[in-house]
Amino acid sequence: MSLPIRTELSGAAEKLIRGRHATRAFRPEPVPEETMRAIFSLAGAAPSNSNAQPWRVAVASGAARERLADALQAAHASNRTSVDFPYSDDMYSEAQQARRAAFGAGLYGALGIAPDDQASRAAYNAESLRFYGAPHAAFLFVAGDGGPRLAADVGAYLQTLLLAMTAHGVASCPQGLLSFYADTVRAELGVGEGRLLVGVSFGYADETAAVNRVASGRAALDEVATFHG
Ligand SMILES: Cc1cc2nc3c(=O)[nH]c(=O)nc-3n(C[C@H](O)[C@H](O)[C@H](O)COP(=O)(O)O)c2cc1C
Repeated sequence: MSLPIRTELSGAAEKLIRGRHATRAFRPEPVPEETMRAIFSLAGAAPSNSNAQPWRVAVASGAARERLADALQAAHASNRTSVDFPYSDDMYSEAQQARRAAFGAGLYGALGIAPDDQASRAAYNAESLRFYGAPHAAFLFVAGDGGPRLAADVGAYLQTLLLAMTAHGVASCPQGLLSFYADTVRAELGVGEGRLLVGVSFGYADETAAVNRVASGRAALDEVATFHG
């Protein structure tokens, strides 16, 4: 067995990748425009099939963010959901369901919400449509035919974006929940092209919030990878 080779970048990469966490409480101050442009420029370095770059991003800040948060609350209150990518709880395997349950127990436990308190969970999720208090929300759309291969490219863009944010000291929370209100987002932000995959709330973390210290585990390497040859 050969010795692991550590390059100059490996330590920095580990720090960056493991330093990113989903943040669910933010301070109100906005990210400077220059920093925002640097982050989104860096995210554009993400790989994609044949370099097609099928992502389209709309970022809501300031008054646009306020209007959108209100519109999302109204859509939620009147059950006006609309998805561009179908969703079903059945899509998860048993092992995946177990991981989701463990994550939920950790998150709602940190919030002081009892496991059987469905009303409080629902209220917390509804409130999260206000972007967990983040001053900005980015919406990632899949352009072109919006099929799974193009969506995978936008997934690569998503992680590149999250890491670019981390590198600039900007905290984030990807929110699949926001994609359940695709028509509302489209109408409010005037987006004509693409299917909404995910929203990302971002800004500076409220380091005092206990919810930001929820640790998320990961499956053991042998559960997810096999090495052949
Ligand atoms: C595509 C996607 C959708 C997500 N949707 C939500 C969401 O709607 N609400 C939320 O609070 N977190 C959401 N998350 C965050 C995950 O819960 C989080 O990434 C996971 O628990 C691992 O924790 P970590 O990001 O802190 O490592 C989402 C993450 C991804 C990648």
